[in-house]
Amino acid sequence: MSPQSEPQVLLTRQEIAATVNRLATEIMKDYHGKNPLLIGILKGSFIFMADLVRSLDFPLTMEFIAFSSYRRGTQSSEKIQVVQDLRSPINGRDVLVIEDIVDTGLTYDFLLQHLRKKEPASLKLCALTDKPSRRKVPVVIDYLGFTVPNKFIVGYGLDCDEKFRHLPDICFFGDI
Ligand code: IMP
Repeated sequence: MSPQSEPQVLLTRQEIAATVNRLATEIMKDYHGKNPLLIGILKGSFIFMADLVRSLDFPLTMEFIAFSSYRRGTQSSEKIQVVQDLRSPINGRDVLVIEDIVDTGLTYDFLLQHLRKKEPASLKLCALTDKPSRRKVPVVIDYLGFTVPNKFIVGYGLDCDEKFRHLPDICFFGDI
């Protein structure tokens, strides 16, 4: 990827909105009456989470969790640490994790182990995008928006060195 070049649109804001609605419908069917706890992974999921929860028409609560920034540009290391943990207990709660992208799967794998110790009643994952070609550990995605090619993507909350999060479409650099 070359962040010097102009970002090209991979998924338009209209496609994203339609997919967020589809995911909300699936989640409504499964979680209605359960008062779930949605946990957003900062920072990448903040726009997705904000749009998703406004389409969920039932009681729920929200928490956010942040990991050490282990990624510089498009490169990642495998060392992951919690830098902002949950502020309330999750034991006995139906927990739905909201992710921007599952790439190697290492972040979600780490999060699963971290959350399981806190004894939720159930634990599921909703991911806006999935890049299965780079997976290092298996991940079950219960609610998936889009499968994306092996490109570094930005926009709609996703960044490259903190840039491009504000783009309303999901974009990539270079050729598809
Ligand atoms: P994983 O641990 O490799 O699955 O990556 C998870 C995190 O890496 C995501 O939550 C993103 O913050 C970041 N990430 C992975 N791939 C991309 C990408 O293509 N664009 C932007 N961020 C990414």
